[in-house]
Amino acid sequence: MKTKILKINSQKIEPSKIKKAAAVIKKGGLVAFPTETVYGLGADAFNPQAVAKIFAVKKRPLNDPLIVHIAEKKDIFKVAKEVNKIAYRLIEKFWPGPLTLVLEKSSLLPEIVTTGLDTVGLRMPSHPVALSLIREAKTPLAAPSANLFGKPSPTTARHVWEDLKDKIDLILDAGKTEIGLESTILDLTRRPFSLLRLGGISLEELRKIIPEVKLCKGEKVVSPGMFRCHYSPRAKVMVVEEGKHQIEKVKELAHKFSRKGKKIGIMVKEEDKSKYEKFRIKVLGKGDDFATCAGNLFSLLREFDNEGVDLIIVEGIREKGLGRAIMERLRKAQGI
Ligand code: TXA
Ligand code: MG
Repeated sequence: MKTKILKINSQKIEPSKIKKAAAVIKKGGLVAFPTETVYGLGADAFNPQAVAKIFAVKKRPLNDPLIVHIAEKKDIFKVAKEVNKIAYRLIEKFWPGPLTLVLEKSSLLPEIVTTGLDTVGLRMPSHPVALSLIREAKTPLAAPSANLFGKPSPTTARHVWEDLKDKIDLILDAGKTEIGLESTILDLTRRPFSLLRLGGISLEELRKIIPEVKLCKGEKVVSPGMFRCHYSPRAKVMVVEEGKHQIEKVKELAHKFSRKGKKIGIMVKEEDKSKYEKFRIKVLGKGDDFATCAGNLFSLLREFDNEGVDLIIVEGIREKGLGRAIMERLRKAQGI
């Protein structure tokens, strides 16, 4: 199969392009499309054969459920059984946007989407291309991130192409995604409500609505994909926490592994970029500019990988707001 790429302008969406993409979905094909978080790989959520193809092309384990994407709030009931008060409040505040809610699943939704779970992860993205596509396809889209299993999520169409070329029908290319990290996932089916994944909506923002929300660390694994080492590149990743002597510690590691013959890459904060002469560095963003850091993270990991780096040493940033989600992704890449 030859994968087509259609460039599309989010500000001025050409209906003909959306129609083409929607036709692919209706025929049971796969379309990679931009969301505000990362690119998704979409199929008609009500076509089990199409959904099965998602697992196959991504090489994704069959026990890792997919998120369902809708374009209208009223479509919740096509996929979820009931919506409690707190879900309504969260939806009012954060949809469309990067918050996935885990709710009781409707019996009409094919089992393969949720890999047999009786719950479903559901979100309404805010990207105009994603919304137009879902509306035109007239069906909710099951869509994981459009990367090969184990690679960082794609934030550009090129990333999707690198991983999935000629395995999917179409890529809608609307440029770099705005947030660059995946959605935050909140499980509302059990108490206390727990965060299964940190992402585009921060813990602080959520706590304004649900003060008791907690991070589910070290508990029973409820989000099957959550505790797996999501990004396990060829390159090893080491994070040096922010704090005293961070630069010295990074350099020490870099020297140590260089001496062992390893090819080193260092991911640094803008303010420290002049401190690492002679090393291969990439700038994540200003340490307190979490939005920029989030937007660059996955791209830089892929760049280092493409350059054949053996070890990526990362200057950690502060764990506040989006910074917390960034550090969580880095720790996962580290295998912790
Ligand atoms: O921002 C995002 O969420 C992107 C865009 C494309 O929407 N999607 C995304 O999907 O990151 P994916 O499949 O790469 O990650 C979804 C995560 C997985 O770790 C999966 O285990 C979890 O959501 N998940 C999905 N449904 C679930 C459910 N019913 N219960 C618990 N976890 C669930
Ligand atoms: Mg993913």
